[in-house]
Amino acid sequence: MNALNPHLPVLIDEIYAALEPMPGKTIIDATFGAGGYSKELLKAGANVIAFDRDPTTLTRARCFASKFENFTFVQDCFAQMTAHVTSPVDGIVFDIGVSSMQLDRPERGFSFMNDGPLDMRMSQAGMSAADFLNSADEEEIANVIYTYGEEHASRAIARAIVAARPLHTTKQLADVVRKTLGRSPKEKKDPATRTFQALRIFINQELEELENGLMAAESLLKPKGVLAVVSFHSLEDRIVKHFLRESSQAEAQQSRHLPQTPAHGVCTFMKPLKPIKPSTLEVITNQRARSATLRVGIRTQAQRLKVK
Ligand SMILES: C[S@@+](CC[C@H](N)C(=O)[O-])C[C@H]1O[C@@H](n2cnc3c(N)ncnc32)[C@H](O)[C@@H]1O
Repeated sequence: MNALNPHLPVLIDEIYAALEPMPGKTIIDATFGAGGYSKELLKAGANVIAFDRDPTTLTRARCFASKFENFTFVQDCFAQMTAHVTSPVDGIVFDIGVSSMQLDRPERGFSFMNDGPLDMRMSQAGMSAADFLNSADEEEIANVIYTYGEEHASRAIARAIVAARPLHTTKQLADVVRKTLGRSPKEKKDPATRTFQALRIFINQELEELENGLMAAESLLKPKGVLAVVSFHSLEDRIVKHFLRESSQAEAQQSRHLPQTPAHGVCTFMKPLKPIKPSTLEVITNQRARSATLRVGIRTQAQRLKVK
């Protein structure tokens, strides 16, 4: 967060309406970041348990803890939620991806707009983007760029990366991609966008985290508890959409002529509500909201019988 580019929480009014925070409710903020969601939930009197895997969020979390007694912070991945929270909760919100603070700091290595070390790790664990790009074989690099960036020129980019190794900085990588792809006058986005997205998702295992986080959320929500997920690109949104659809399918198929069987096993969520997009006004005032989608699911009382 900086003065020129303050972090504005995305779809906050819609999140608030979905979660209905109030005294007595306990809500998990799975992605604390700058605490934009946590702050509104706490102001409404809810108890908040917040998670973030990034150790740089600790300072802000400590500041929240000194102001709000009903705030707890856990520095861990949200997929580990059930290891830290044992009682059922009323709501869980995810705001997936990187924060503006992470993008704005060149030393974190997420951005092709500034030069910095080629890192891209949200926490200090695991290998950096440079470790991966300087050691993996060409095919492996191409597969990552294609799978997580949906980049059709992934093979040409991987070939150019291998030829330019070793790479140490974000600028070196961005220049290799830009040189390989050239710039079409029609394309508004920087040609390096998809490659950077792919590497960030791969390095942080973001899609696996999301899948496991949704399963953890399902097991922690009370009946009628609310799951709210904000995602920013199709790969994430697809996972959330399929999860809610699959988890509610038995509900949709159940006949109203048959006796209702509580906890019959598979429909752990009610039929999903329509996805929510930000208003035009929000998109004008907050660039980051541009590609956001909010999906909301309401927990039933059924328990999942088989582990997927
Ligand atoms: C988009 S920001 C959240 C912003 C927040 N809603 C706000 O209003 O300030 C996403 C945050 O989630 C964290 N994060 C991403 N993946 C995570 C994971 N698997 N477990 C825990 N935190 C994660 C990132 O470190 C980042 O701080």
